[in-house]
Parts: sequence; C-alpha cells; structure tokens
Amino acid sequence: MAHHIVTIAGSLRKESFSLKIANALARLAPTNLSLEVMTPAGISFFNQDLEAAPPADWLAFREKLQKSNGVLFVTPEYNRSIPGVLKNAIDVASRPYGKSSFLGKPVGIVSNSPGPLGGVSAAKHLQNILPGIAGPILQQPEIYLNGVGDAFDAAGNLVKDSLKTVLQQYLDAFAAHVAKNQG
Ligand SMILES: Cc1cc2nc3c(=O)[nH]c(=O)nc-3n(C[C@H](O)[C@H](O)[C@H](O)COP(=O)(O)O)c2cc1C
Repeated sequence: MAHHIVTIAGSLRKESFSLKIANALARLAPTNLSLEVMTPAGISFFNQDLEAAPPADWLAFREKLQKSNGVLFVTPEYNRSIPGVLKNAIDVASRPYGKSSFLGKPVGIVSNSPGPLGGVSAAKHLQNILPGIAGPILQQPEIYLNGVGDAFDAAGNLVKDSLKTVLQQYLDAFAAHVAKNQG
C-alpha cells in the first residue's frame, strides 16, 4: 500500500508556486507514495487560551497528520523565513506539549522562490523549528528551487523539464526515507 503523505504548501495565494509545486509532486510521485496536498487555509490562529477546548479545525488538522505516514513541506520564503500562516499551522500541530502530531513522522522540506536563492533561508528555518516536534528530516538531497516563475503553464502544469527531473529525484529519495522511518 502507498504511504500517505500530508503535503503542506505554505502559501494562501491562489496562483501560488508552492501549491503548483506540491501538486506537481503529487502527480509525479512514485506508486508507493500518495500525496495529499493542503494549504494552511482555514487553520485558526494559535492561541493558548483555546487549548482547553480546541477549535474543530485544529483537531481535524492534527488528526490528518496523526493518520499520515509522513509530512512534506513545500514552502515559499517570506523575508528570509517561512510565511506566518505556515508557522501558525506548525504551532497548532505541535500542541499539546509533548504530543505533537508530527512526532515520529518522516519529514521532507522543499523550498522555492521565483528569485535566485530558492528560498534556502526558509528551508533552514524549518530545519530549526522541526527537530523537537517531528520525526527525522530527509537530509540529502537538499532541494531549494530557484527561478520557479516560468516553470508552469497557465493551467498550472509543470513545463520546465529540469525542475521535473529534480522533483522526481527528490521524490525517490523521500519515498525511501518514508519507508525506512515507519514506526
Ligand atoms: C511578504 C513577502 C516577503 C517575501 N520575501 C522573500 C524572501 O525573503 N526571499 C524570496 O526569495 N522571495 C521573497 N518573496 C517573494 C516570494 O518568493 C514570491 O512572492 C512567491 O511567489 C511566494 O510564494 P507563492 O508563489 O507560493 O505564494 C516575498 C514575498 C512576500 C509577499
């Protein structure tokens, strides 16, 4: 059976490159991986005051992660870090203290930017945030996708062959990482 991967595109933008990359990854995934793409849309702001009676959207998000076999982040870079909406989703999933819904889940990080640096700072920030609340992060290959602005056609199809090759290589490594790290 295919391993089920919650794939979080860290942008709310309709024409988001991160979302298009996440969808391209879902289409390119090998048969032993099944990617469910989502965004942080609809996840309420984290507020410790709400923890005693968490909003339904928090509970649904946490349950989705708990049932998964792994998590793949596709993040843009906002001011050399991850977007606030993505950090909010991670904060929601990390609670209650000691019971993070990411615990034990193998993780992949794909950053991207239409600019030249590929969102590398955002990816590095995720590598700082996740170790205490998640399972093992795939270390190699690293993947910081630059120049993604011309990678898709008007219908959202991936048209840049070099990017397709890199995504396929990453998916193969991530599939092996997920298979190796099932609890
Ligand atoms: C608030 C803000 C900050 C940004 N900061 C960066 C940055 O630090 N590095 C970068 O490469 N691009 C930066 N950008 C440009 C984004 O890479 C670009 O808007 C990208 O399309 C956002 O991702 P998305 O297409 O998935 O929504 C920034 C954009 C916004 C709106």
